Amino acid sequence: MIKIDKASNRIVLKTKNTTYAMEMLYGKFPVHLYYGKTSPKADMSYKCPIHSFSPYHQEHGLAYLPDIAQVEFPFFGYGDFRATALRLLDLGTGSDVTDFTFRRAKKKIGRVDIPGMPYGDADEKTETLELLLTDDVTGCELYLYYTLFPECDTISRYFKLVNKGQNNIRIQKCMSLSLDLPSANLDLIDLGGKYGRERRVERVPLGHNICRISSKRGASSHHHNPFIMLADHNATEERGDAYAFNLVYSGSFLDEIEVDQNNTTRVMLGLGDESFNYLLCPGEEFISPEAVMTYSANGIGQASRNMHQFVRRHILPPTPFEKRPVVLNSWEAFYFKIDGKLMVDFAKGAHECGMDMLVMDDGWFGARNDDHAGLGDWTPNLTKFPQGLPAFVKEVKQQGVHFGIWIEPEMVNKNSDLYRAHSDWCIRAPGREPLLSRDQLVLDMANPAVLQYLKDSFTTCFRGVDIDYFKWDMNRHMSNVYSPYLPPERQGEAAYRYMLGVYELFRWLRELYPNAMIENCSGGGGRYDLGMMKYSTQIWTSDTTDPIQRTYIQYGSSFGYPTTVMSCHVANHGNSCEDPRKLNYGFRVALNGPLGYEFNVLSVSETAKAAMREQVKEYRLYENLILNGDFYRLVDPFACDCYAYYVVSEDNSEILLSFLQNYDDPKEKSYKLKVSRAKRGMTYRDTISGDTFTGDELRKGITVQAQKKGLYAKMLHLVTEN
Ligand code: GLA
Repeated sequence: MIKIDKASNRIVLKTKNTTYAMEMLYGKFPVHLYYGKTSPKADMSYKCPIHSFSPYHQEHGLAYLPDIAQVEFPFFGYGDFRATALRLLDLGTGSDVTDFTFRRAKKKIGRVDIPGMPYGDADEKTETLELLLTDDVTGCELYLYYTLFPECDTISRYFKLVNKGQNNIRIQKCMSLSLDLPSANLDLIDLGGKYGRERRVERVPLGHNICRISSKRGASSHHHNPFIMLADHNATEERGDAYAFNLVYSGSFLDEIEVDQNNTTRVMLGLGDESFNYLLCPGEEFISPEAVMTYSANGIGQASRNMHQFVRRHILPPTPFEKRPVVLNSWEAFYFKIDGKLMVDFAKGAHECGMDMLVMDDGWFGARNDDHAGLGDWTPNLTKFPQGLPAFVKEVKQQGVHFGIWIEPEMVNKNSDLYRAHSDWCIRAPGREPLLSRDQLVLDMANPAVLQYLKDSFTTCFRGVDIDYFKWDMNRHMSNVYSPYLPPERQGEAAYRYMLGVYELFRWLRELYPNAMIENCSGGGGRYDLGMMKYSTQIWTSDTTDPIQRTYIQYGSSFGYPTTVMSCHVANHGNSCEDPRKLNYGFRVALNGPLGYEFNVLSVSETAKAAMREQVKEYRLYENLILNGDFYRLVDPFACDCYAYYVVSEDNSEILLSFLQNYDDPKEKSYKLKVSRAKRGMTYRDTISGDTFTGDELRKGITVQAQKKGLYAKMLHLVTEN
């Protein structure tokens, strides 16, 4: 609900449980009043505290100070010394000062599209507030958008800048969302990591300083994730204030947080100032990517669940399959050593083990026998696939499984026909030798000729090939960023326009194969972000398939992202699939998302095959709950080396509780697992052990004893009896 009250100059936005309020002070300055729980006790007053050394407008004196006020959207150079959301350079005058003031507010049903970009889909409850601000000197119009997704308690923010002036303007800093909160007593929770160790949860108290979480890699990256939370120092999973934020974008980004002299915390998310710089000529307009925020009065767990719901309802594409396919992927089984005959046998093996999708990974095209050659040449290798792709895929399907294929469209090896023909199609700074990473270079996706080449070669390569699933990979980051296609004055846009090209290709592929699903991958979970989730049903969570490490990665991923996107594969390290305890542990760990397998099922014993068949059957029993249930974290593996969580159906009648002990003899010997969503007065039966529990018992907590030996999994599948 959006209420614009002209008499008081106040605007109030309401979602299911939250209220967001602002005021156009003196009819000119959009100041922030409140974001939090909907409550009659909410303090919505405008405050102007201590104000030494703060410039002011003579006309309004000390009642409005840009450096002190909580503002809706801070711009550079006009008295607000804190971190800024928008910095423009007027190339006519050389001035980077702007002073945007409020003109009018409008509300719309639905939302405003962001051309070329991924963004949250509107539904019948979506509404958008549009504020128009103008800067008289540059002639720029700034439209601030607030789009409400009320059922998920989520509000998104983005802006449009229109150059209505005479001079060229450079956007030097672009933040989609800015929020000034009236408290400094907050912890920052973020998901830093590295390749193979994605999304490790870190929680630190904010200080009076500026904190920047940023990727400059041209990808959201393994190293920093755009998702962050701010939570009360005392906030737990179930209690306390928590705010969560994310950006619907997959390239370089900046999350910036500043705590100021008066204990206001400013949090901003956007494209930032180091990897982005945009030329806006007279008459042109620019729309920022979308950023989203949610608030929970019931702890960080609820903030995560709000985000999960938002992603499930408004970001993810519809799944083309009635049941999510259980995938068998060829990578860890054979790496590059694949051919048509082996893959048909592998498909047969998949079917025998109860799996229903063969995904043929890297190595099927061009001269791709290792990672030194072939990327960019999207023609099947006819020595490996003499029958050609259409006939090969037909044979795969005759084994009773679907077919998926690996592609990495954005890259090229130097040793490829594509590079030999078009070395100018790569990202490379003039006069400098480009750096290699995994022996590959990044194609300039801002160049329409590159996009056309990719569309043409995939169209030819896949003509008549019945593909159900694409694994879209991206295996290096951008360095020496420069687009040979763009003119010098637009080089600051290269990485941003690269992303527009990538998104265009994703949409094109989805149109070409409307019934196929895409699994996104970037050296594992290097683009685990809302931009990629717009086009991908699943994301390959990490190249690390060791189940112990996976518990940490899956726990971290759950902070911002729903289980339904988290591809979880059982692997076979050290022949673990022949050890029932280890195979069972790997499987229980993988029951945290869509299931898959990643090893050579052709070389395992009949016992292991039978065990996998049983696993797939068991997964199918819980699948709906795992993929669509509400997710509750119970035990933090970073603190205890044990991970526990549960998922629960909307009506609380079905619960899957999982306890995973990684190492021998953990320091805590017993764990009380409280299932707060169990219904009082109900009896639940565990379909695995046959034991029964009352709802009250489950709410008080059931005790799980840690074992002497690690790799121990205890799972309860609880269904109501009465
Ligand atoms: C990346 C992916 C792997 C696999 C290889 C293929 O590392 O994360 O899963 O697809 O590329 O080269």
